[in-house]
Order: sequence, then structure tokens, then C-alpha cells
Amino acid sequence: MDPARIAFDGSGVRIPPSSTLEHLQEAVRILRSNQPVAFPTETVYGLGANCQNTNAVQSIYTAKNRPADNPLIIHVSSRKQLESKLLSQGIPAIYEPLLAAFWPGPLTILVPLPPQTNISTLCTKGQSTFGVRMPKHPVARALIELSGLPLAAPSANASTKPSCTLAEHVLADMDGRIPLILDGGSSDVGVESTVVDGLVSPPQILRPGGISLEQIKEAGGKAWQGVVVANPTAGLNEKVRTPGMKYRHYSPRAAVLLVSPTANVTTVGHALDSRSARKIAILRSKTWPQEISFGDYETVSIPLGHSGAQISHNLFAAFRSADEANVDAIVVEAVTLDDEGLAIMNRMKKAAEVYIS
Ligand code: TXA
Ligand code: MG
Repeated sequence: MDPARIAFDGSGVRIPPSSTLEHLQEAVRILRSNQPVAFPTETVYGLGANCQNTNAVQSIYTAKNRPADNPLIIHVSSRKQLESKLLSQGIPAIYEPLLAAFWPGPLTILVPLPPQTNISTLCTKGQSTFGVRMPKHPVARALIELSGLPLAAPSANASTKPSCTLAEHVLADMDGRIPLILDGGSSDVGVESTVVDGLVSPPQILRPGGISLEQIKEAGGKAWQGVVVANPTAGLNEKVRTPGMKYRHYSPRAAVLLVSPTANVTTVGHALDSRSARKIAILRSKTWPQEISFGDYETVSIPLGHSGAQISHNLFAAFRSADEANVDAIVVEAVTLDDEGLAIMNRMKKAAEVYIS
């Protein structure tokens, strides 16, 4: 990180070298003055603000350029904070086995919005529920606990850009737009939390993420055996259960071609030629060898890793490095839908222009 860019003069952004108590205290001061702070979580970086203050929440939408009908997840540091500040009627029983297994961690649950609530309507956007999670990352937990504020926090990327898994990614998108980024290193999981709705029957996974369908079925007991995955590809005008599903997302600047490992190499070459691609990035996952080629293109080869955990961890950063390398197109190797694959393919499809299977 270039120290010259780490100035705090109201227009720039400062990234502390480490998240010491002093930096956390400064973040707390900023949050209490109803401004946003970017912070690390185990999934991706979040852009947080006091969920009970409308000006604070508005500052998130403004910094991100986020569509106005997409609700925000609220982050808490403990169940006690959730129940005392936001949900006096308690957490619906269906979630208990999931919370025992996955909190703190990458699982967001939908709970009923109480009739009397201080949660800003900007967080909930007309839904009768709100989404809440308890992050595992120690900096995130410490920030929420020290501030005493439940934080509304979407991913810290500019709207439509890939989510941020490093403080440097946040700086690239948010420089001059927010007062502070807490640097907690690289986000472990690399894709966002799994969003589940246990208030409908059968329960639904609204967004696949850091906790897999298989894990939910295994830990969830009888009530979660029949869990279904909501349609992730609703069209722009369709009414969707989770508004975030309908937007273009995670998009690098370059055209992304999602390609099955068994696809015909010539077909991929035609798709690249029809986009006049000269320089490409190849994002290899489980099977493509380093020397794989789709024709005569200047090529940047980026390994995502072989396991689902590695591919999740590396995907968004790889999209960003491909853009930095100024490629015309990104060819990414698809994976199967089991375990981490469901969330990985969801993110890959949202970034892709075409899927060549
Ligand atoms: O891992 C994560 O969840 C990250 C980190 C920062 O915690 N946050 C995140 O937030 O991904 P965001 O705003 O980028 O995505 C929130 C998703 C959206 O798809 C939104 O539509 C959905 O959760 N959501 C939030 N509240 C909801 C509600 N009440 N009903 C249905 N969907 C909701
Ligand atoms: Mg997001």
C-alpha cells in the first residue's frame, strides 16, 4: 500500500497498517458520528454504519452507488445484542440448530421485523423481515462490540464490482468516498454469507454462500432436510424474494466467459473472436492444466486452486487482477454444484456474459 495515499483529510482514505485498539477506537468515533467504516469479515469486506440511524445507512448507499430497493444485512457481535437491541421477541426456534453450528460465521438468517423497531427503513426496504448475521472475524466482532452498534453492512465494493477480499480492493473502489478502512488482511472464505429464510415452508436458501447446502442439511436437523435453493436468475422485472438476486453483480470490466471443463476449445475460440479479444485471462480451477490454450491470444493464466475452499477464496481477487492486467476477456473454468461449488457457480454466473457448457 502506498503510504502517500493513506491520508485522512476528509477526502482520502486511511488504512491503518494493523487493526489495533487505537484504530478500532477511531472507527468507533466515525460510526458514532453516523459515517461509514469499511471493515474485514471472514467472507468479504463490509461497509458498515449504524443500522438504527437513517443518515448513517444512507451514507452506505451513497458511497456504493447501491440500488435503492436492495436491503442490507445487519451485523451483531452477540446474541445478547441481537435480542436486546433488535429482536425482543427472540430468534425463531427453527434457526437454533444452524446458529449452534454456524454462528459466529458466514450464515445470514431472516427474522421478522418487530412492529416497533429502531432499525432504519433504509435497511429493510419494505420487507417484513430483516437479515442478520454474527461475523466470525475478530476485527468485525470487536468493532461491533466496542461501538455498541449493530451495523448494517453490505459488501464494501462499488455496486456491480466484484466483492472485496482485501483492504486494497476497498481502497480501489472507495477512495475519496469513505473516511476509513480497517485492514484485516485477506478474507478467508472469499464469498459472501449464505442467506437462509426459515420463516417460509419449506425453508429456502436465498443466496448460496460460505455455508453449503450440504452443511445446512447436515446440521439443521429435520426442519432443514427439505430446504430448497431459491431461483437465482430472476429477470429484471420479476418480483424476487431477495432483491439482491436481480442485479448485475460481481462484474469485472472484461467480458467473462464461463466455460465447462469439457467444453469444445474451438467453441471458446469463436466466442473470444466474436468479442475481438486479443488479450485474455484464463482462470483455472479443478482440471485445466497450466498450458491450456483456446487459440492465439496473449494470455494471463491465473490458478484459482483445486479445492472448493481455495476457489472461493481466490475468485473475486482473480477477477480484479484480470482487470488490472487489462485483458479483453476472462475465460473461467466452471465447477460442479456440490459443496462450495453452488456458491462459486452462483458468483461465476452472475459475472458471466455466456456459459459455454
Ligand atoms: O458475507 C456477507 O453477507 C457480506 C459481509 C459484509 O457480511 N455482506 C453482504 O451484503 O454480502 P450484501 O448487501 O452485499 O448482500 C445482502 C444480500 C442481498 O442479496 C440482499 O438482497 C439480501 O442479502 N437480503 C438482505 N436482507 C434481506 C431481507 N430482509 N429479505 C431478503 N433478502 C435480504
Ligand atoms: Mg454485495
